[in-house]
Amino acid sequence: MTEEIMNETTPTSGLLTEIDHVAIAVKDLDAAIEYYQQAFGATVTHREVVESDGVDEALIKVADSYIQLTAATRPDSPIAKSIEKRGEGLHHIGYRVANCQEALDAMVAAGATAIDQAPRPGSRGTTVAFVHPKGSFGTLIELVQE
Ligand code: CO
Repeated sequence: MTEEIMNETTPTSGLLTEIDHVAIAVKDLDAAIEYYQQAFGATVTHREVVESDGVDEALIKVADSYIQLTAATRPDSPIAKSIEKRGEGLHHIGYRVANCQEALDAMVAAGATAIDQAPRPGSRGTTVAFVHPKGSFGTLIELVQE
C-alpha cells in the first residue's frame, strides 16, 4: 500500500476525532441566525450565554459538527475585541478530542502556546482549552471534549 492510499482508508488524525465547531464572530446574532435560516434553511439547535467568556452563541448543527454564531455580551468580551480589530468573520476552530488535557499537553509539547493553562468548562457542558494562534499557524484553536 502506498502512503496515499493508507491516508484515505485509515484514521490518520491522531488525537482529533471531529471538527467540533467553526466559530464566527458577528455583531448582530439575531440577524446572523436569520441569514442562515433564509440562506440554508438552517435552524438553531442550541442557544447559550457564557457570561464568563462574555459571549452569546447560537449553534447550528451540521452532521456531527456545529456552526457557532457568536456575539459579544459586553465591550471587553474577546469577541468584541476581535470584531473591533478584524471585523466580523471566522474567529476560531473547535477541534473535538477525547481528552482535552492530553491534547493540550501534546500541543504545548509541540511548541504551541496555551491560552488556558488547564481545561475549563465550555458551552454545551463541554470541557475546553484555547490555544494561541501564534505558534499554531495563525489559527485560534479550541480543544473541545464532550
Ligand atoms: Co468555540
